[in-house]
Amino acid sequence: MFAEIKNNLVKKAKENNFTKSNIIKELFANEDLKHKYPNEIRRSTFVGQITNEVLAETGSQDICKIMAIGDIEYFGEHKKKWEKLVKNSIANINIKYLTWYDLAWQWSKLFRDRIVDYMQTYYDFLALDKEKISDDIVPTYGWTDGFVFILNTLKWIYTDRKINFIYPESSFMANVKIAETELGWENLFEIKKPIKNNFFVSRDQVAELYEQELNSNDINIFYITPVWNPTWEKIDKKSILEVLEFVASKDDNSVFIFDNVYVGLLKEAESKSMFNEIFTDSRINKRIIFSESLSKTLWMTGFRVWWLWSLNQVFVSELKRNITLKKAWFSKLLNEFVVNILSDLPYLTRFQTEVYNFWTLQRKSFYNEIKKNFAHLYNLEWSTQVLDREGIYILLKIKNWLKTEDIFAETWIIWVQINLSDGIYIRYAFGNVNYY
Ligand SMILES: Cc1ncc(COP(=O)(O)O)c(C=O)c1O
Repeated sequence: MFAEIKNNLVKKAKENNFTKSNIIKELFANEDLKHKYPNEIRRSTFVGQITNEVLAETGSQDICKIMAIGDIEYFGEHKKKWEKLVKNSIANINIKYLTWYDLAWQWSKLFRDRIVDYMQTYYDFLALDKEKISDDIVPTYGWTDGFVFILNTLKWIYTDRKINFIYPESSFMANVKIAETELGWENLFEIKKPIKNNFFVSRDQVAELYEQELNSNDINIFYITPVWNPTWEKIDKKSILEVLEFVASKDDNSVFIFDNVYVGLLKEAESKSMFNEIFTDSRINKRIIFSESLSKTLWMTGFRVWWLWSLNQVFVSELKRNITLKKAWFSKLLNEFVVNILSDLPYLTRFQTEVYNFWTLQRKSFYNEIKKNFAHLYNLEWSTQVLDREGIYILLKIKNWLKTEDIFAETWIIWVQINLSDGIYIRYAFGNVNYY
């Protein structure tokens, strides 16, 4: 795929006696890669892969660790268990259900019921009507697809309105870039992190934005990732509620997109507690479009199973209407597979917990190694904490005078660079590695 880039670089590296840091600098500066992969996470991953190929061809045995992408992979016993689960779920597919279009474009009722049961492993739905949620689930093929589709539907609902997109600076940038292409850069509003150890936004910052730039006659969409990429910090419940309550009281047109891809990775009590008040406050919850997935909680990044739901009937019906118009989709094969894989939830929960504990061990060992050998490169006090909790990322701030390429050359790990208002950070991802 990258043969030409690699071959040119091998030649150049041999002629000029390149160091590791020279190789990576060249690749990050490569215009072709920049153009083809505007998503930095993918570009960094490819840079890592090409670096390793160049090194192999220049005679180096020293392969770098690639920790850029939030992909998921299992190892050892976990891999065996996962493969068995997948094989059984495929083997038990009932072929008689595979024919005909899915005319409702909403997958089967059994699929949606299983999804609601799965969500109940991390949400407390006691105050909500579960049958209604099941009816209102809108499946998508992955979040990128779901996110484009939400924006497209909101544009469809509010054809004559200006639509703004507001996000904390430490958000998942791939989606911010999608918002830029869908809504225009002039309608994007970034809120900088308020203080040293806070990567979300404060109520006062949002209030100031309304005073100075936002207009409540516009449609103001807030993009909220309660358990974060890039940080792997969970926003504390009080801060989210303060922001949501403020916006709800100020702006009748506001919309919150909740990117809950990682919420299921939290300990059950934490995720349930995080959303209790949100689910019971109708002023707030009717403005939210929730997005959920099996990508990161269960090893399904490659299967593309996501779904949207909302307690707002206008959003739900317009999302459904838009789907029937624009997407003749939903594979019944995937439908049946998901029904089967979610059939034994107690087993699945035990399995997931084992895997999440493995990730925690990886993250902690990595962090200890950094503290022991590379503390001089990072500003650990300003970095996010590595807690005894499941998760797949670590975000470390680098010392002011350093460059990320130099960190790479010393640690020999490829990362994603995140530029925040108070400095440069590196995000390391742990979902597909067993290095530590
Ligand atoms: C916060 C967040 N949202 C969305 C996604 C994208 O999900 P998908 O690859 O399933 O489209 C990711 C992937 O890393 C993510 O971290």
